[in-house]
Amino acid sequence: MTNSEPRLVKLRSVDIRTTALAESVDFYTNVWGLRTVEKDTDAAWLRGTGTEHHCVSFHAAERNGLDRISFAVESPADVDAWAWRLEANKVPLISTPGRTQRPGGGYSLELVDPEGRVIEIAAEWEAVVPLSSNVPEPVGITHIVLNTANIDAAVAFYCTVLGMKVSDWSEHRMAFLRCNSYHHAIAFNQAEWASINHVAYEMPTVDQMMQGLGRLQHFGIVPLWGPGRHGPGNNAFSYFADPARLVCEYTSDVQQILESDWLPRVWPRTPELADLWGTAGPPSSEIRCAMTGYQDPGAFEQYPDLQDQYVARQA
Ligand SMILES: [Fe+2]
Repeated sequence: MTNSEPRLVKLRSVDIRTTALAESVDFYTNVWGLRTVEKDTDAAWLRGTGTEHHCVSFHAAERNGLDRISFAVESPADVDAWAWRLEANKVPLISTPGRTQRPGGGYSLELVDPEGRVIEIAAEWEAVVPLSSNVPEPVGITHIVLNTANIDAAVAFYCTVLGMKVSDWSEHRMAFLRCNSYHHAIAFNQAEWASINHVAYEMPTVDQMMQGLGRLQHFGIVPLWGPGRHGPGNNAFSYFADPARLVCEYTSDVQQILESDWLPRVWPRTPELADLWGTAGPPSSEIRCAMTGYQDPGAFEQYPDLQDQYVARQA
């Protein structure tokens, strides 16, 4: 075990349940710019050009949903340290520290958060060679936005238990949380229920983000919102819906935080702050609907007793 408090180093990957596996793999590999690293009959693991073995995986399911969010830590000793810390906070684990047989391997644990999301904390997975490319392709993922039924409880859990920090608020509707210099790795959006809102893929430059839009346009796919530049996070954005109507974002130029002088702000939800360029206009009802998604019980479907534990704790 390490002497200091363990910390999450970076958002590594997300695993997604999809109702349109074959169509989605075709979209993400032939249009979006990712590449298949592993595949079986009911799942596929895809990478960007960056250093991660995979940045996203898709798993065939009857309903769309979030299967797992994976964070990287420095070492197996840190994974063990996290197990102690989580146990001290009475956070339920569905897998204790050990070697995983999932693609990419590594040494990890899995916890369940208060709304049933599975969070993996992992170290020592397989290295891959970064790819160079002269076509615009995502490096990997840079953030995931999650709908929550209780934004204050979600922020409290991810900050107090998982050690993340609030970078900014969008009124009391969205909270942007970081674990490193990137303005946000996770953002929570107050909603009626817990579900996946969208996954953002990082393009190396704004130029390449726009070239990516051009490629999608060649395939007859236009953004449902964007291009524009967000106030909180200052990132350039364009949002699309994949074949399962899950929302994916090309983003670039995410604000880098200097820890010594950063103070969280509260951004009014005005059109000029939602899009600093003034090009995107308000999000359409179509993209809002796709971002709302379907109520996702996550691991509580398989482990209802864990939900009871959290409810009992709040009582
Ligand atoms: Fe985003």
